[in-house]
Amino acid sequence: MSVPGNVAAPGGHRGYAIAHLPGDGVGPEVTEVARDCVDAVAAAHGFVVEWRTYPLGARHFLATGEVLPDTVLDELRKADAVLLGAVGSPDVPPGVLERGLLLRLRAELDLYVNLRPSKLRPGVPGAVSRHQPADLDFVIVRENTEGLYAGAGGTVHRGTPFENATEESLNTRAGVERCVRYAAGLAARRRGRLTLVHKTNVLTHAGDLWRRVAAEVAAEAGLPLDYAHVDAACLYLVDDPKRFDVIVTDNLFGDILSDLGAALTGGLGVAPSGNLNPDRTGASVFEPVHGSAPDIAGTGRANPAGAVLSAGLMLDHLGEQQAAADLDAAVSAVLGAGAPETTAGWADALQQALAARAGAR
Ligand code: IPM
Ligand code: MN
Repeated sequence: MSVPGNVAAPGGHRGYAIAHLPGDGVGPEVTEVARDCVDAVAAAHGFVVEWRTYPLGARHFLATGEVLPDTVLDELRKADAVLLGAVGSPDVPPGVLERGLLLRLRAELDLYVNLRPSKLRPGVPGAVSRHQPADLDFVIVRENTEGLYAGAGGTVHRGTPFENATEESLNTRAGVERCVRYAAGLAARRRGRLTLVHKTNVLTHAGDLWRRVAAEVAAEAGLPLDYAHVDAACLYLVDDPKRFDVIVTDNLFGDILSDLGAALTGGLGVAPSGNLNPDRTGASVFEPVHGSAPDIAGTGRANPAGAVLSAGLMLDHLGEQQAAADLDAAVSAVLGAGAPETTAGWADALQQALAARAGAR
């Protein structure tokens, strides 16, 4: 049997080398649970995972001055996927880890899609009490390497009354097109509903490019294309989320909308994300949407659902669809039975749900 991943697994099993970046705060706590869940579904579905752990993040930066050494980046490039907990600490100035680690990984590994599903699962109190699970199941496809995140801009005359700070939004035709293409493919596999979210009435240059490219790609894919301005999209997401299936949008709008999506579906604790390189020229990076939450780190109360669902997106990307479906179903089962209050409670309940699923096969 061929081995798709990097790992020559015994007995001809499929094997994957996964880089684990536990990070800071609750990151190590939630990714430990996610790893155990991945190991459980790997055993049930006949593949093996070799975990390789790298200590990056605030703690590592404060101890060594290193943010993302080239040697580690080279290792990450060679992995089949990366599972990231969360990074950050109030002791590290803003931007150091965001730009130096997270955005650098997105650029270096060409992770041009940020995939952020929002699904209201039965038993979960969403932020809007009248929302039902059938109303709320959409995916945000956030462009992940351009826009206002590209790093174009600068400050001149700093510290004077004429200080001038600019941030430019970069939008390349190729960058927009590959992102929209991914979104259209995803919509075709889901309910066939693709919505472009932008602000074309004000951001007329970038908006025009996004609109033309999205119309072309949707027509080619044989899909209708809906459009909403980003401000209206916020209103619709609260008022009538049923209208959304796949939302494709630029980097900053996607960042903001995905926190709203998390709030509507149970909070940041349950929100997963995948930073994807759909062309597979680099390893994709999977991480919960939440941050390192230093206020609850070490209290045993971190919710690992977002990390486990992110690991599910990772397995799906690796081609292990059944194992991915198991993780998704286990999280739903645990949430449906009333979410545990502790990380350890979650870990036990998830393992029981996974065992019950394996036993039922
Ligand atoms: C996210 C985060 C990041 C982003 C930050 C930490 C750089 O908010 O993943 O949503 O803005 O993309
Ligand atoms: Mn964010």
